[in-house]
Amino acid sequence: MTKPRILMIIGGGIAAYKSIELVRLLRKAGYVVRCVITRAGEQFVTPLTLAALSENKVYTNLFDLKDEVEMGHIQLSREADLVVVAPATADLMAKMAGGIADDLATTLLLATDKPVLAAPAMNVRMWLHAATQRNVATLRGDGVTVMEPDEGEMACGEFGPGRLPEPAAIFAAIKAALSSPPPLAGGVGGGTVPSSVLPLSSDMPSPSPSRQREGDLSGQPDFADEDHRPLYGRRILITAGPTHEPIDPVRYIANRSSGKQGFAIAAAAAEAGAEVLLIAGPVELPTPPGVIRVDVETAVEMAAEVEQGLPVDAAIMVAAVADWRAADPAGQKIKKDGSGQVAPLALAENPDILAGLAKSPHRPTLLIGFAAETNDVVAHAEAKLARKGCDWIVANDVAADPMGGESNRVHIVSKTGIDSWDRLPKHAVARKLMEKIADELDARIPRQPD
Ligand code: CTP
Repeated sequence: MTKPRILMIIGGGIAAYKSIELVRLLRKAGYVVRCVITRAGEQFVTPLTLAALSENKVYTNLFDLKDEVEMGHIQLSREADLVVVAPATADLMAKMAGGIADDLATTLLLATDKPVLAAPAMNVRMWLHAATQRNVATLRGDGVTVMEPDEGEMACGEFGPGRLPEPAAIFAAIKAALSSPPPLAGGVGGGTVPSSVLPLSSDMPSPSPSRQREGDLSGQPDFADEDHRPLYGRRILITAGPTHEPIDPVRYIANRSSGKQGFAIAAAAAEAGAEVLLIAGPVELPTPPGVIRVDVETAVEMAAEVEQGLPVDAAIMVAAVADWRAADPAGQKIKKDGSGQVAPLALAENPDILAGLAKSPHRPTLLIGFAAETNDVVAHAEAKLARKGCDWIVANDVAADPMGGESNRVHIVSKTGIDSWDRLPKHAVARKLMEKIADELDARIPRQPD
C-alpha cells in the first residue's frame, strides 16, 4: 500500500514550532511529508529542522530556479494527496481566500488540485475579526477544511479562540480527510475537500448529501435530505469497538465487540449534521464520511482520548471497554514452564470512562451509555443508569443475537421512562437514536433564533 503524501505549508507564527511535532507524528505513521515554509515561518522554525524531520527537501522560495528544474511548483502542488496549512495565519488565509499568489506557499495553494486542510493560529482578536471570519467562510465555501482553533491562553497573554489545534488533533483531521471519499467538484484550484470532512467546529457547512445509502427502512429519518440536519452545530463524541489489554507483546485480553453499532452511530450523527469525534478501539472498519476518528488500543488510552475530546454536547459510549487489564504486562513473551501449573495473571481494574465522564466538570449535556444484556435487560439497565450517573442507557438485548450481528433490539432507559424499539438493523437504530438525541439536545440547549 502506498503511504499518504502530505504537502505541509508552514506559515509564520509562534505556533509554527508545533508543526515540527506534526511532521514527526506524520513520519512516525509512515507518511511522506514535504514541507514548504513561508518567509515569516522561517522566523520561527528553520528549514534545516524540517528537512531533518521530514527527511525531504524543504522548499522556501518560488524563484529558486534550481528547484523549478528539479520540481516545478505545479508538480509540487499536485503530487501530494493532501495539502495541510499549519499554522494557517490570518494573512495566509486572507491570501488563500482572495486567490493571491505572491510567494511559493500561496502559489502552490492556488495551483493545487488536491484537498486542502487548514489549521488556524492567530491572536484571538484577529480570529474573531469580521475580515478573518469572512475569509474562513469563503474558504469553507470553496471546499477547504478549516479546523476550529483551540481556545485558551495565548502566547500574547490574551485568552480565547486562536491557538493552533494540538498536533494530535491535526493528525486526526488529516487521517479523516484522507479516508474520505474523493472530491465531488469545484473548489480551490478545481479540487476540494469533500464537505463531508468536518473538523470539530461550530459553524461548518452541512455534509454532502451525495453518499450512497443502503437498506433504508421506510419511516426512518432521511438525513440525505439537505434540509433535515437535526444535529447541525452539535458536537458529539462516540466511543466504539472493544479494547485490547496487553498481557505481553504477543497476547492481549479482548472481547467480541465488532464496533459496527458504534460506527453506524458515528455515521448517522455525521449525516445528521453533527461534528463527530469517534474514538475507536481495534476494529477493521472504514471511517464513516465526515467523522474524525482517533484509534486507541486500551481502556486507559480511550479514557485519555475521551478527556482530550471534551467539551461536547453529547457523548455516546458504545465501546465494550474491558473491565480489567493485566496489572503488570510483561515486556517479553511469557514462556510456559511445562509444569502444568495455572499461569498467574494479576488483573487491575480499568477506569470506568462513562462513570468518570458523568462526574467530570465538562460533563456533556447528554451522556448516553450502552449495555449489552442477556437477561433482565431493563432491570439491569436501570441499575446501570443509576450506578454510572448517565442520562440514558441504550440497553441491547443480546440473548437472541450475540455481539457482531447486523441488528439490535434496544430499550432506551432513562429516569423518566423506557422507550422500547422493535428489532432494527444497526444503521436504523443509529438514525432513530439521532432523532431522539437531536430532540433532547434541542430541549436542553435551545437553539438561538437566526
Ligand atoms: N464503560 C466505560 N468504561 C468501562 C466500562 C464500561 O465507559 N470501563 C461504558 C460502556 O461504554 C457502556 C457502559 O459503560 O456505555 C456500560 O458498559 P458495561 O460493560 O455494560 O458496564 P459494566 O459496568 O462493565 O457492567 P457489567 O458488569 O454488566 O459488564
